[in-house]
Amino acid sequence: MIMKKKKIDRETTDVLLASEKFYRPSRKFLASLQIKDYEKVRRQAGRDPIKFWTEAARELVWFKEWEKVFSAKSKPFYQWFVGGQCNLAYNALDRHIGTPVENKTAILWEDETGRTRKFTYREVYQEVNKLVNGLKSLGVKRGDRVAIYMPNLPEIAFAMLACLKIGAMHSVVYAGFSAQALADRIMDAKAKILITADGSFRRGKEVMLKPVADEAAVLAKTVKKIVVVKNNNAAVNFNPQRDVWYHDLTKDMSAEAKCARMDAEDPAFVLYTSGTTSKPKGVVHVHGGYPVGVLRTIKWVFDLKGDEIFWCTADPGWITGHSYIIYGPLLAGITTLQYEGVPDLPAPDRMWQMVEKYQVNVLYTAPTLIRAMMKYGNDWPKKYDMPSLRILGSVGEPINPEAWKWYHRHIGKGRCPIMDTWWQTETGAQMITALPCASLKAGAAGKPFPGIEADVVDKNGRPVKSGQGGFLVIKNQWPSMIRTIFNNPERYKKTYWQEIKGVYFTGDLAFKDKDGYFWIQGRTDDVLKVAGHRIGTAEVESGFVSHPAVAECGVIGVPDPVKGEVIKAFVILKQGFLGSEELKKELVGQVRKTIGPVAVIKDVAFVDKLPKTRSGKIMRRVLKAQELGLEVGDTSALVS
Ligand code: WT7
Repeated sequence: MIMKKKKIDRETTDVLLASEKFYRPSRKFLASLQIKDYEKVRRQAGRDPIKFWTEAARELVWFKEWEKVFSAKSKPFYQWFVGGQCNLAYNALDRHIGTPVENKTAILWEDETGRTRKFTYREVYQEVNKLVNGLKSLGVKRGDRVAIYMPNLPEIAFAMLACLKIGAMHSVVYAGFSAQALADRIMDAKAKILITADGSFRRGKEVMLKPVADEAAVLAKTVKKIVVVKNNNAAVNFNPQRDVWYHDLTKDMSAEAKCARMDAEDPAFVLYTSGTTSKPKGVVHVHGGYPVGVLRTIKWVFDLKGDEIFWCTADPGWITGHSYIIYGPLLAGITTLQYEGVPDLPAPDRMWQMVEKYQVNVLYTAPTLIRAMMKYGNDWPKKYDMPSLRILGSVGEPINPEAWKWYHRHIGKGRCPIMDTWWQTETGAQMITALPCASLKAGAAGKPFPGIEADVVDKNGRPVKSGQGGFLVIKNQWPSMIRTIFNNPERYKKTYWQEIKGVYFTGDLAFKDKDGYFWIQGRTDDVLKVAGHRIGTAEVESGFVSHPAVAECGVIGVPDPVKGEVIKAFVILKQGFLGSEELKKELVGQVRKTIGPVAVIKDVAFVDKLPKTRSGKIMRRVLKAQELGLEVGDTSALVS
């Protein structure tokens, strides 16, 4: 891993110029906040992070208190709240029953076609319990894995919570993945049940999921039952031996169900994410530490007081959706809005219209969406005052200062601070962010959250000077951290703890400015961020190579004004094949088939040669530099 030193330095000065101005909260706004001093809380937590997290853990219900808050006995398999007993679903749901939260709206739902649904905490509780009993009747037991492949429906929340109540792990697979990708994830987790829906509506069209689930179940033999939510009343194939309608499964079930007593370190769920090889990593999170991190961050970063309407525009299929559509809002006892659809239908003011309709207080979205909305012009948000909005959030990729300023001015109307939150599937919760009381810089992610120690270092782990680029690392441990990679503890050790000695390796490049603000510069070059979605270059390459015409392939991310990055592939064809527009289309189709619509290929170039190391590894960094006309950097490993 070699730094593109020149490039980082150049970008650094550009960004620093853009950072001159501080955005400070007004006195009135500051007075309304629970936390008024960013540095003070960071300092306090920094003196004793264990104490800080212990206090955070006390906001949850524990069936049995822990014996030890933190243990590094089997490092890097760190443990939190050792000996404690709890259940993530109990904390997100059951504990609100019998309190005033019970009758509050937990979930608001709307889809692109304008259909709406609404559930109080009590109603969610009843729905979840029925499903618990239904899943038990299908043989789901503690320790099992259940795959979930669904659109952004209330039922995805019910399904996730039901698994947890039983003590089974859920494995949610984003609905933009293909049958093959779904099957790979099901097989890795050995899931025996798959919960899906007939389909949904996207961009005015019907998107079918059941046929994909059917195909996946043929490939993944572990699946014994498919539970199907009827969402769009589409005609689907139904195999009565294997398939069961969700509404049939739950209709006669009791609305009461016991909640499993789990150990704090028992796995709650696995979520697959892309890494540097073609095999996705099953990131494991647990019942105890995960909610501690999620609840503390959602409450502090968005200054929740308990009555908010919270809209996170991600999909539940990604960690952002797990932590900030479902678990975070429910742990905090507030109202979460789920929107299943695109942001620009029927018109590009759909989002702003929804913010007013639902009186959204916190809007948490991604730079790619902000940039897409920016392109439609200022008139669309101008029609809406959005007085309910208090705090804005951004996540998924670096937010460029122009998009930040537009978001601040046209959506937040200059009143709402923007919390740019850096974190990862592996970190479980937000890690580098400002708090609403902080002075902000357009485009900077802020500083480490209280209790988190982050730094920018060189490849030997030595801190670099401020303004200089390097590797973003986390120097301590935190409750919501990844526990292992499912079925692959060695890969966990190697990926996160052996790249740079003694610290957690994030895989991101960053620099710290003179005020201590972190500026995230993107990934080291094996992982792509397309519209905020994490996609592995190796996964895409293996998609190409699975086509009979392809001998070799190298894939890079090319900067894109809206999507952040788009994918360009360099392909060497096998002898006897000729590059043509038709073949390009076919190859793009092949990748769509192996990975899914989430992997959009912008461009395919047929080449005779790919830059490689002596050991035969494709040097994507060189491909990228050539493509962008940048300095190639250290090419000592290159075989010419
Ligand atoms: C990668 C993690 C958990 C958030 C959703 C994506 C990039 C995430 C930011 C940000 C700059 C960001 C990083 C990170 N990233 N948030 N605010 N600024 N970059 O989770 O799919 O696990 O991706 O997303 O590169 O490593 P993920």
